Amino acid sequence: MVTQSRMGVLFVCLGNICRSPTAHGVFETLVAAQGHDGWLTVDSCGTGDWHVGEQPDQRAMTEAGKRGVALSHLRARQVRENDFFEFDYILAMDRANLRHLESIKPSSFQGHLGLFLDYAPEPGIAEVPDPYYGGEEGFTQVLDLIEDASQGLLQALIDAR
Ligand code: 4NP
Repeated sequence: MVTQSRMGVLFVCLGNICRSPTAHGVFETLVAAQGHDGWLTVDSCGTGDWHVGEQPDQRAMTEAGKRGVALSHLRARQVRENDFFEFDYILAMDRANLRHLESIKPSSFQGHLGLFLDYAPEPGIAEVPDPYYGGEEGFTQVLDLIEDASQGLLQALIDAR
């Protein structure tokens, strides 16, 4: 029998209450639905610490719920050095958070650190816009972008396996 190692994916935004928990829930749901949860681990965190311990933003939970994705079990946490040893793919929602991650990345990190939307099928929008201070339509766009990129990411991970 071949022993297959697990692959870890970590989604990162600023507060870990809007974008990255949405990506966490959407991707985790997709992974389970397609039977890949045996080898893929999914998590999320924020570069900031303001919302540590909190549930995702109610607007994110509502929008995700409309698409059959539960987020209520998630709690915000801040990125930590060990994440670079535990996760193979660390995917930022925008360039500001990517720069932050690059600034704290241990030199021994062997994984992939980049933008989540690089996996979206349609090039164009490079960053998931921060919806926190806007209206509900911002959360609809966040879900649309995340659903599209999640399909591309899963296929890329299957190919890289
Ligand atoms: P997120 O959104 O990074 O997608 O979780 C934000 C949540 C909170 C804040 C900023 C962005 N904040 O400034 O508190």
